[in-house]
Amino acid sequence: MTSIDMPTESAIREVRVWDPLVRIFHWSLVALFLIAYLSGDEASQLHLWSGYGVLALVGVRVLWGLVGTRHARFGNFVRGPATIARYLKELLLARPRRYLGHNPLGGAMIVLMLATLGATAASGVALQQIHNGGGAVASAALALRALAPAPLAAAHADDDDDDDDEAEWLEELHEFLAQLMVVLVLLHVAGVAVGSAMHRENLIRAMFTGRKPV
Ligand code: HEM
Ligand code: HEM
Repeated sequence: MTSIDMPTESAIREVRVWDPLVRIFHWSLVALFLIAYLSGDEASQLHLWSGYGVLALVGVRVLWGLVGTRHARFGNFVRGPATIARYLKELLLARPRRYLGHNPLGGAMIVLMLATLGATAASGVALQQIHNGGGAVASAALALRALAPAPLAAAHADDDDDDDDEAEWLEELHEFLAQLMVVLVLLHVAGVAVGSAMHRENLIRAMFTGRKPV
C-alpha cells in the first residue's frame, strides 16, 4: 500500500491553525526585534531600519488581526478580564482548558507586546526626529509628555537646555520601552513553555508548521 492510499497519521489528526502570514510575521519579528535591540547603542542604519521593520510588521499584524484568517483575528483571542482570570485559575490548578488558537492569557500578552513594540518604535522615530531638528512624531510624543503624570514628565527636566532635555526624555522613554519589551518576551517564552508542558503539545513546532493536533 502506498502512502497516497493511506494518509499519514499526522495528516488525519492535525489541523491547520496558523496561516503563513502569522508564522512569517512571528519569526521575522523575533529576528528584527533582536537586531534592533542589540544595535541600539547608536542610531546606525542597521538600528533605524530594523526598528522600521518592527514597526511595519506590527502594522501588518494589526491589519491581519482585523481581516485575517480565523485564528489570526483579534476576535478569536482577545478576551475580557473574567475569561483571562478563569484561565489563570485553571492554570494554577494545572487544569487549563485547551484552546486551539491563542489561550486568553497568551492573547492578552500578544496585545501587550504589539502595543509595546509599536510604542518603542514610535518613540525611536520621535527621538530620531529630535536629533534631526523635530517632526510630527516628536511633537506628538512631547504633547503626550505634557499630559503625563508629573514625576514621569519631569524626568530630566532639570536640564537647562530645553532641546537636550527633550532628547534625553525621549531617549529614556525609548530605552525603558525596549527593556519592558524584553521582560514581556521572557514572560511570553515562559508562557509558551508552561502551555506546551500542560497540554503536552509542542507550541513552538506549531509556530513553524502551522499545524496542531486536533
Ligand atoms: C522577540 C521575541 C518575540 C516576540 C516579540 C514574540 C511575539 C509573539 C507574538 C506577537 C505572537 C502572536 C502571534 C500571532 O498571532 O501573530 C507570538 C506567538 C508565539 N510565540 Fe512568540 N515572540 C517572541 C519570541 C518567541 C520565541 C523565542 C519563541 C519560542 C521559544 C516563541 C514562541 C511563540 C509561540 C509558540 C507562539 C504561539 C503561542 C500559542 O500557541 O498561542 N516566541 N509571539
Ligand atoms: C522596536 C524596535 C526598537 C528597539 C527594540 C529599539 C531599542 C533601542 C535601544 C535598546 C536603544 C539604546 C537606548 C540607550 O541605551 O539609551 C535605542 C536607541 C536609539 N534608537 Fe531604538 N529601538 C527600536 C526602534 C527604533 C526606531 C524605529 C528608531 C528611529 C527610526 C530608533 C532610534 C533610536 C535612536 C535615535 C537611539 C539613540 C541612539 C544613540 O545613542 O544615539 N529606534 N533603541
